[in-house]
Amino acid sequence: MAANLDQQKRRTFRHTLAGINNGGMLNLMLKIGDDLGLFDAAAQGPASSQQLAERAGLQERYVREWLGAMVTGGIFEYDADTLTYTLPPEHAGLLTGIDNVTAFAHRTVLFTKHLPGVTEAFKNGGGVPYTAFRPDFTTFQNLGSRRRHDRFLINNYLPAVPGLTERLSQGLRACDVGCGTGHAANLMAQAFPASTFVGYDIGQDAIESARDEAQAGGLNNASFEVQDVRHFPTEPKFDLITAFDAIHDQVDPQGVLNQIRDALSPDGTFLMLDIRASSDLADNIGMSVAPALYSVSVMHCMTVSLAHDGAGLGTVWGEQLARRMLAEAGFSRVEVADPHDQMNLVYACHP
Ligand SMILES: C[S@@+](CC[C@H](N)C(=O)[O-])C[C@H]1O[C@@H](n2cnc3c(N)ncnc32)[C@H](O)[C@@H]1O
Repeated sequence: MAANLDQQKRRTFRHTLAGINNGGMLNLMLKIGDDLGLFDAAAQGPASSQQLAERAGLQERYVREWLGAMVTGGIFEYDADTLTYTLPPEHAGLLTGIDNVTAFAHRTVLFTKHLPGVTEAFKNGGGVPYTAFRPDFTTFQNLGSRRRHDRFLINNYLPAVPGLTERLSQGLRACDVGCGTGHAANLMAQAFPASTFVGYDIGQDAIESARDEAQAGGLNNASFEVQDVRHFPTEPKFDLITAFDAIHDQVDPQGVLNQIRDALSPDGTFLMLDIRASSDLADNIGMSVAPALYSVSVMHCMTVSLAHDGAGLGTVWGEQLARRMLAEAGFSRVEVADPHDQMNLVYACHP
């Protein structure tokens, strides 16, 4: 048998596995770097390991070994003559500040805690419920989506629905389902003082954070309730309902979409932000983020639904299935727009 093996194919795959190993370990180093402020310290300019350790208030020996991973991993540059480490500004911009993307490293570490439960579910079914992911998930979700909403919500997501920004300026009654820590609703409340916003989520900790943020910002037009959105008040009707990354992990996503449709006024809009992907695996081959998306689905989005005998749509349910389910819920017109955030689609859904 071995004689028939394509040796080049085997070598290529060994190389792929080595890359996966490097990426997995570098994820841990990215999390340490972000947690300890090493990227912020390095962004101040080239430094020796001693200087960088002093800037960050850390132990030089650990920092030097960590820098070894950073340099060989292509994250830092190294001048062997002067023993100087440099975080190029192009890299620093993605590891610090508003465009810091290291939330994915935090997520990977969080998910490892749930490997036993998810592995067990492969054998016996069921899953790991949302409650098991809290409170860490709430913190992680807040970290990841807060930056995304700051950058894209007002400038990209809302304008993807023609006329919506203008209507919000005039005053709408709006609801955000699966609002998490409420940052999106609070941002909208701040930008559109003539509109009112209510956010619903099952996470008590998330709702408390949302209320704290609204209070700190003096936002009298934003309120938050612990509420399972499978059932929420449908009177009086809402002019706008939003769901940011909050449909595909539902236990009963079709039931939630039906409920949203029932709660909308006849000329209302449902804005659903969800992962840009195809429902057909074959179409997703070659999409750079697809392996991470399917893995996140196994480790979180699908398992939290299957934990309650749910639909288990998963992160990559895709545009075709989303359109079918929106039609089933009674949305007669659905327009899909690219909000240019590299991850999502905006579905503008009208009764
Ligand atoms: C992936 S998070 C997105 C949170 C938020 N929209 C954001 O952009 O950060 C999905 C949220 O939906 C909430 N959720 C899941 N099922 C729910 C349900 N049946 N009712 C209310 N909230 C739910 C979760 O608690 C979680 O906060």
